[in-house]
Amino acid sequence: MEKLIAANWKMNPVTREEATKLLRQVEKVKTNRKVVICPPFIHLSVLSPRFTSRTSSLKLGAQDVFWENPAGPYTGEISAAMLKSYNAEYVIIGHSERRRFLNESDEMISKKVAAAAAAGLKPILCVGEPISVRKRGIAVSKKFVLNQLKKDLKEIRNLKSAARNLIIAYEPIWAISTFGAGQVDSPDDSSEVISAIKKFFLGAGGIANVSVLYGGSVNGKNAAGFINHPVIDGALIGAASLKKDFFDIIRT
Ligand code: PGA
Repeated sequence: MEKLIAANWKMNPVTREEATKLLRQVEKVKTNRKVVICPPFIHLSVLSPRFTSRTSSLKLGAQDVFWENPAGPYTGEISAAMLKSYNAEYVIIGHSERRRFLNESDEMISKKVAAAAAAGLKPILCVGEPISVRKRGIAVSKKFVLNQLKKDLKEIRNLKSAARNLIIAYEPIWAISTFGAGQVDSPDDSSEVISAIKKFFLGAGGIANVSVLYGGSVNGKNAAGFINHPVIDGALIGAASLKKDFFDIIRT
């Protein structure tokens, strides 16, 4: 599986000038890795003209999408068709910050994943357990994550065909830098959960082509351990994607 490195800029940076500058810095790095940049919606229009080449290994993504498509009376929402018109090919869905701060439910997430996949976007579906679950062990964590995954894929009618474009990001909530502790999972423990996710897809009609990334406090120092791990297909990177660390991570 081709390794993929996705940058989740979250609600950063503040101005369009800073966003352009950051992207220019990423563009300067020599890499043959597939890199997906997910800026805030508001910066998509200014960055979009830099993503017109279909052959470039640098791709554009968004951080959310609404389930109705292509347009309608949904105040504040953005559709898959709109994202595509701005050259976005990927979209992060179900991030734990949205689950926590905006009360996004598995039901909403599942509608978003289905709508994005049907529209031809590549959903990066985020799943992961809270610390209370991980404290009960990896086996319990696997069970939690698989249960979440099933709920988040429920609205997809044909999983086999949607799977061609589907990416899963395993992000243990306690490892995400936003939530404080700055703890990172180990490549070995996260790869156990990632293997379970891959087994789940294999069991669902032999689906073997779903990439599964790790996310949560990945930085310049620990990135190689995750990205080069045989079971892990890449990384979803938040805080470090705004810094020099990111250039080091994607440099090959
Ligand atoms: P982090 O965020 O790298 O800052 O922990 C990852 C994510 O939330 O996707």
